[in-house]
Amino acid sequence: MKGAFIVFEGLDGSGKGTMLTRAADYLFNEYKSFDRLLITREPTYSGTGKQIRKMLQQSDSPMSDAKRLLQLYLDDRKDHLEFLRPLINQNCVILCDRYKYSTLAYQQTQGIPLDSIVKLHEKMLIPDIVFFLDVSPAVALQRIKESRSSTEKFEKEFFFEELRNNYLKLPSVLPNENIKIVDANRSKDEVFEQIKAYLNNFFKTKMAEQ
Ligand code: TYD
Repeated sequence: MKGAFIVFEGLDGSGKGTMLTRAADYLFNEYKSFDRLLITREPTYSGTGKQIRKMLQQSDSPMSDAKRLLQLYLDDRKDHLEFLRPLINQNCVILCDRYKYSTLAYQQTQGIPLDSIVKLHEKMLIPDIVFFLDVSPAVALQRIKESRSSTEKFEKEFFFEELRNNYLKLPSVLPNENIKIVDANRSKDEVFEQIKAYLNNFFKTKMAEQ
């Protein structure tokens, strides 16, 4: 079986990290025909990723540093893909927390034109599946409030409203990409059941094609 590249996307507080680790656990136990399972994220924890995290801490205003952040996310992604590409061509399943869809949604919300962000990603690897965990901004902010004492740069209601709309536009902007919108306002078990069904469908079809 050749590898697979699966991405989890959503607002902060959408539960994508939880769903990614549940998916990893499930795939690791249920599908033993691939050689490796890798969990990774963007921004990464490399040099550029660290620079991004520092910038995110330096300003609390969601609209600031748009162009600089766009460049940093792109540089970080290019380095990340250099690392991932050989694994994709092997028999490795990669689960990634955020990818280009975050840039398409967040930096668009910061004011960068969508078509220019689409162009910058034209030659980049297209995932096999993208799960967009769709939560209402109010639910996302409530979950963030319950899990930590402070909020981060982008975690503001007006920003989240626009961000969610921008995420929801992506399936029609990228009609050839396999973006699944999952209602993530539900319980963790219900959300994961739906993700599991998509994963089973994908892996069973893939294995039948071998
Ligand atoms: P996040 O997933 O919250 O990282 P972690 O949980 O590891 O700290 O990502 C950090 C922030 O960066 C988050 O608010 C979303 C934002 N972001 C963008 O604006 N554009 C991007 O391209 C990516 C990957 C993230």
